[in-house]
Amino acid sequence: MALIKLLYDYLWIPLRIQHMLNSQGIKGPPYRFIHGNNKEVTKMKQKALSKSVGLTDDLFPRVHPHFYTWTNRYGKNFVYWNGARAELVISEPELIKEVLKNSEQIFQKKQLSDIGMKFLGNGLIFIEGEKWAKHRKLANHTFHGESLKNMTPAIIASVETMLEKWNGQEGKEIEVYQEFRLLTSEVISRTAFGSSYLEGEKIFAMLDKSTIIVSQNLSKTRIPLISKLWKSADLLESEKLAKEIQDRLMKIVKKREDKAVNGEVNSFGNDFLGLLLNVYHDSDEKNRISLEDLVAECKTFYFAGQETVNSLLAWIVLHLAIRGDWQEKARREVVDIFGNQNPHLEGIAKLKIMTMIINETLKIVWSNRCPPKNSYKRNSVGKATLAC
Ligand code: HEM
Repeated sequence: MALIKLLYDYLWIPLRIQHMLNSQGIKGPPYRFIHGNNKEVTKMKQKALSKSVGLTDDLFPRVHPHFYTWTNRYGKNFVYWNGARAELVISEPELIKEVLKNSEQIFQKKQLSDIGMKFLGNGLIFIEGEKWAKHRKLANHTFHGESLKNMTPAIIASVETMLEKWNGQEGKEIEVYQEFRLLTSEVISRTAFGSSYLEGEKIFAMLDKSTIIVSQNLSKTRIPLISKLWKSADLLESEKLAKEIQDRLMKIVKKREDKAVNGEVNSFGNDFLGLLLNVYHDSDEKNRISLEDLVAECKTFYFAGQETVNSLLAWIVLHLAIRGDWQEKARREVVDIFGNQNPHLEGIAKLKIMTMIINETLKIVWSNRCPPKNSYKRNSVGKATLAC
């Protein structure tokens, strides 16, 4: 019976989907039993990463060699196999719009693997429905104009600390990715959690480790049955990291709670952690969130708020270093608007050139980061039917 189920799930269904998509003109690399195309993906990635890369080289073939190869071979839309799971890759703008607009709520977030669950499961990025709406309301509050205004002094203080360190370094090389890593970690720690980078340092380091484990496992096949009976070294490590992150976060949470309980402050605070604690302690059970959810949202904010901005800043600086003309335009605009003053929200809204530079960089850096979606309700996108 188990053998029939195995053959059904890992041979019959994938081959049927493959046939159905092929007959609609959607081609792709052929399905291979259980592993799908994962082995090919791993090989292509290893080969691409072993080559050195120049400043102005096209990065797509290096970062996603499998997508690059298959787009050239099979066209803008193609299907490939992540294990026995068909993944439809689309790069036609109209189809992408349809998925991102998701007006009929057809597309849902991708289900996480065991390792992914340990990392950011239960956090905003991966939850859906009512729970998402409840958590999202809290996150939205953090990004209101007034909240952002209150964050400005902390952001300026963190940038000043970084620039003081850079003073006297003219002509020397600075590893900006690491510098921005510290900066963004400090900013997110201060603005969302009211703590210093030092308190969050271990959490960031462990989240970094978790990110590496998750990305290394993206193209690994889960062997049926075996993965249920046996935990991989990576899963065990993820569990250990998740537990350690939770313990560290609980220390920060406890410190904030104690302050409120001892009367040192009269509320849990207005930053993201304060808002989470308010709902965690809400007297109405309907509004309350669990401790597990609180920890998941803290992890999400530490991760989503740091890694993204860190990469964006580093890419902006790289682009400006390559394009001296735009660097000059940006510098002139900043000096025109702020002179020798520190930046303020009203002035930031007037930065046209800087906004263009940020948007262009986002286009390049984030074009490959569109989150994968599952299609459940109506199994189609564009003209393609995905139901079996
Ligand atoms: C360069 C800056 C950033 C970029 C490019 C970026 C990009 C993204 C993307 C592509 C998503 C997924 C959207 C989707 O599922 O459709 C997302 C979600 C999210 N980001 Fe960011 N992000 C940035 C900065 C931040 C910061 C600073 C924070 C928090 C401090 C943050 C918190 C979140 C959260 C909580 C979600 C989940 C939202 C939801 O599903 O409702 N992000 N971000």
